[in-house]
Amino acid sequence: KIMILFGPPGAGKGSHAPKIVATLGIPQLSTGDMLRAAVAAGTELGKQAEGVMKSGGLVSDELVVSLIKERISVADCAKGFILDGFPRTMEQTKMLDAMLAEAGDKVNYVVALEVPDAVLAERICGRWVHKESGRSYHIKFAPPKSLGDQAPSVETMLDDETGQPLMQRKDDTEEALKSRLEAYHAQTVPILGHYGPAGVVHKIDANRPPPEVWSSIEKVL
Ligand code: AP5
Ligand code: ZN
Repeated sequence: KIMILFGPPGAGKGSHAPKIVATLGIPQLSTGDMLRAAVAAGTELGKQAEGVMKSGGLVSDELVVSLIKERISVADCAKGFILDGFPRTMEQTKMLDAMLAEAGDKVNYVVALEVPDAVLAERICGRWVHKESGRSYHIKFAPPKSLGDQAPSVETMLDDETGQPLMQRKDDTEEALKSRLEAYHAQTVPILGHYGPAGVVHKIDANRPPPEVWSSIEKVL
């Protein structure tokens, strides 16, 4: 099964992905996580992507398509995969469809998490992440056990599973969010129109508490 997990920045793609992975038994492929890993490792690709990502723009289609191409050739993707943050432009969509068609595959589900723009700033600005696992927390909506009633800081925001410190993303600012939302509406939303006629798009109201959002996703699966 091939799924696109779709939605604006802060919609809850990364938050719900681990449960979809556990349910379907196929891996999550997040181009955002792959790019952040490349930036952290200081690779040539990471150097190319760093500035664009920090300002909230989109990295070039060629670069992300090559990352995905390489990743889906790995054995654990043989039974399918969940795309998180890809495709993001019509060009990427065409390249994905062509890549899948070569193997006789196609996109089976587009799970589209819908959240009004006005709600996203609070979600984004309160997010803390565990870098290694990609786990997402929120100071108010999904606090780690370590926070209790203390103020959020690098000392009090620790990953539930490893106890390691959480961090904030460089692009999680109001300023960068503006550009990310512009890119989303102009370049990414048209992708839904492309997959609509195939009957694979499932729209989910993601402006509800996480357990309610998850139960709607579960019904689609
Ligand atoms: P990427 O990492 O893909 O970021 P994004 O799409 O902006 O999405 P986010 O990770 O911000 O949102 P999410 O939906 O995963 O939210 P989360 O679940 O964490 O991309 C980053 C950058 O990389 C791009 O800007 C671009 O530069 C580059 N890039 C990546 N892919 C690319 C591509 N294909 N082409 C070109 N460039 C690319 O949730 C957010 C917060 O809200 C968390 O704190 C969470 O706890 C909280 N939350 C979640 N659900 C709820 C809820 N229901 N109620 C309350 N709070 C909630
Ligand atoms: Zn994410």
